[in-house]
Amino acid sequence: MEYVLEAESLGKVYGKKVVLFDFSLKIRKGSIFGLLGPNGAGKSTFIRIVSGLEEPDDGTLSLLGEKAGKKSRRKLGVAPQENAIYNLLTCMENLTYFGSLYGVTGKTAKGRAASLLSQLGLQDKKDTVAGYLSGGMKRRLSLACALMHNPEIIMLDEPTTGLDPATRIKMWETVRKVVRETKATLILTTHYMEEAEALCDRIAFVNTGKVVAEGTPNELKKRVGKEIAKLSTVPGQAENVIRIIKAIRGIDNVTETEHGVIVEGKSIAARLPEIAKILEKHGETVVEMTVSRPSLEDVFLKMTGLKLREVAKAESVKRNWKGEQS
Ligand SMILES: Nc1ncnc2c1ncn2[C@@H]1O[C@H](COP(=O)(O)OP(=O)(O)OP(=O)(O)O)[C@@H](O)[C@H]1O
Ligand SMILES: [Mg+2]
Repeated sequence: MEYVLEAESLGKVYGKKVVLFDFSLKIRKGSIFGLLGPNGAGKSTFIRIVSGLEEPDDGTLSLLGEKAGKKSRRKLGVAPQENAIYNLLTCMENLTYFGSLYGVTGKTAKGRAASLLSQLGLQDKKDTVAGYLSGGMKRRLSLACALMHNPEIIMLDEPTTGLDPATRIKMWETVRKVVRETKATLILTTHYMEEAEALCDRIAFVNTGKVVAEGTPNELKKRVGKEIAKLSTVPGQAENVIRIIKAIRGIDNVTETEHGVIVEGKSIAARLPEIAKILEKHGETVVEMTVSRPSLEDVFLKMTGLKLREVAKAESVKRNWKGEQS
C-alpha cells in the first residue's frame, strides 16, 4: 500500500454553502503531510470527514487501502482544532479514557499515558484536572490523547496554534519522533509557513474547498517560480539599465526602484554574472546585488489570492454542481 489516504472528488455542502468541492488528495505512507489554506478553506471539514464525524455529500475516501469505515478509522488518531478533552478529568484520566475507546486499557494504558505525558512535558500535571491547564498544555494533552492507541494515521488540526515559540519547536521534535518511531503517517494543518517548511514532506494548499496546489515545499516554491534580483549600478541611469536588461533573453520584468532595479526571471541568481557583464559592456558597473527566492508565503498568497474573476468562475461551477445534487 503506497497511499494511506486517497480522497477522490470529495464534496460537502452545509445548507447552501459548498464547503468542499472536487477535493482530491493522496497521502503517502510514512509521510508528514501539511494542509495549508486561509480561514474557512475547508481543512477542518476534510479532517472531520476523514474522522467519520461528517459524511461527504460526494466523492470517495479510502483509508489504509480500503473504503473508509469503522475498521480503518480505529487506526486513526485525531487531535481536532478545538481540543476534545474533558476539563473535569485529570490528564492521566483523559489519556486512559481515550485509550479505552480504542481498547488500550489497564497497565498498558497507564504506561503509555505516563510515557506520553513525559514526552510532552506534562509529567508534573499527571493528576491536574485538564480545566486547570494553560492553553498550550491543553493542546499538548489533546495531542497525547490522539496518540494513545499508536495510530497508523495521525491527524492534527492546527497542533501548534497558541503555543509559545519554544514549545512549538519542542512539539515539532515530538511529532517527528513519534512519526519516526511508530512509522505512522502524519497529516496536519497549520497557518505557520515555517512550520510547514520545517515539518512537512509534502504540502497541499487548500482554497475555497479545493486543493489548488500540491507538492514538496521546494516544488511549490519553484512553481511560483521567480527569483528576484536587486541590482544597483554606477552611474545608474535607470532607463538605460532597464533597456539593457530587458533585451537579455529570459528576463521577464525589470522595474525601477529608489536604489536600483529589480529583475525578475527564471534562475535569476545563476544568471547574475552574465547580466553584470552585459551591463559593464554598456558602461554600467554593478556595485551591489541581492537575490531573494520565493518563500512558501509567496506560494500561499499566489495560490490562495485568486483573482476575483477566478473566484466568480469557481462559484458558478459550484452552483451548477449543487443544482445537480438537489
Ligand atoms: N457545521 C457547519 N455548519 C455550517 N457551516 C459550517 C459547518 N462547519 C464548517 N462550516 C463552514 O465551512 C467552511 C469551512 O470551514 P472549515 O472549518 O473546514 O475551515 P478551515 O479551513 O478549517 O478554517 P480555519 O483555518 O479557520 O480553521 C466555513 O465557511 C465554515 O463556516
Ligand atoms: Mg480549521
